[in-house]
Amino acid sequence: FLNKFQNMKSRPKLDYRNKLMLAPMVRVGTLPMRLLALEMGADIVYTEELIDLKLIKSIRRHNPALGTVDFVDPSDGTVVFRTCALETSRLVLQMGTSDATRALAVGKLLQQDISGLDINMGCPKEFSIKGGMGAALLADPDKAALILRTLCSNLDIPVTCKIRILPDLDDTISLVEKLADTGIAAIGIHARTRDERPQHRPHPDVLRAVAKAVSIPIIANGGSRNMQKYEDILKFQLECGADSVMVARAAQINVSIFRRDGLLPMDELIEKYLRLCVDYDNAPHNAKYCVQNMLKELQETPRGKRFLQCQTLQQICEIWHLGDYCRRKQKELRTLGNSGRAEVEP
Ligand code: FNR
Repeated sequence: FLNKFQNMKSRPKLDYRNKLMLAPMVRVGTLPMRLLALEMGADIVYTEELIDLKLIKSIRRHNPALGTVDFVDPSDGTVVFRTCALETSRLVLQMGTSDATRALAVGKLLQQDISGLDINMGCPKEFSIKGGMGAALLADPDKAALILRTLCSNLDIPVTCKIRILPDLDDTISLVEKLADTGIAAIGIHARTRDERPQHRPHPDVLRAVAKAVSIPIIANGGSRNMQKYEDILKFQLECGADSVMVARAAQINVSIFRRDGLLPMDELIEKYLRLCVDYDNAPHNAKYCVQNMLKELQETPRGKRFLQCQTLQQICEIWHLGDYCRRKQKELRTLGNSGRAEVEP
């Protein structure tokens, strides 16, 4: 424990300026995709949003067979969050919370395994709003500030939040100033209001005005509509006048968008992703979901249809000629006694 604690103290504090980031995405931002994003050139990767109530119940376990740290739900043994040393110095965990005390307890439980903690203040989904989380916090800035101040004062890692813009520019600037006052290291801003959907145009001009008005690093988000390649990320950053950019949908479809030297062919990317799924014993339904996002309309082809029938990682790997790799690795993991399946198979 002491060693871990010392490691955390000696780790340089995450710098949020001039960075390209994999945005938080439920079901997408699990360990294999995060590692692939880093390999492709992302500087910082966010986990999917994890809910405080789930995290607080979880038990931290080393998984020597996989070389990971797993946070496991003791009631059914499922892995709530899996991470490994390869990503620690560039990993931000995003939490959904509505309660400062609970958020702090989770922060303390997790801080040795992550380099930043982000609070989701932009999710418009019913589940979040009903629980007073996500975009509900935009309507309760005092509570939002209390959560952030509590975390900033009591944790050793930087704290950030991810918000959406408000319908009025001055209100947005006031909100950002209020949140910046809590001691957060940076602020992620999705350039849409709570009621705007992905098909609506983002508002980079609003981000530009906010970035001019405040001194805290701004992480621009919401530009995927116009992103096909690496240069498009930089274009969006410039348009927003932001310190950094975080990319969601464009990376969900093709994570090699982070690659300076250009996109990789889809099959090569899927192969890399599947190897990581095998190496870290990722849940098959999670792997399938992420591959589906990469395949898009190719799911209609004979190969795509065969893929849609797959239920196990082994079956998916066969399609990308990784059948032997998967068989060998799974056998090895069984010998090593890996018990930490990310989730039960469907
Ligand atoms: C998201 N988004 C999201 N945001 C967040 O703060 N926490 C989350 O867990 C998720 N989950 C999520 C899942 C999926 C599949 C998508 C596509 C999006 C929103 C995301 O981070 C981002 O704010 C928006 O998608 C806008 O950015 P892009 O897509 O234009 O780059």
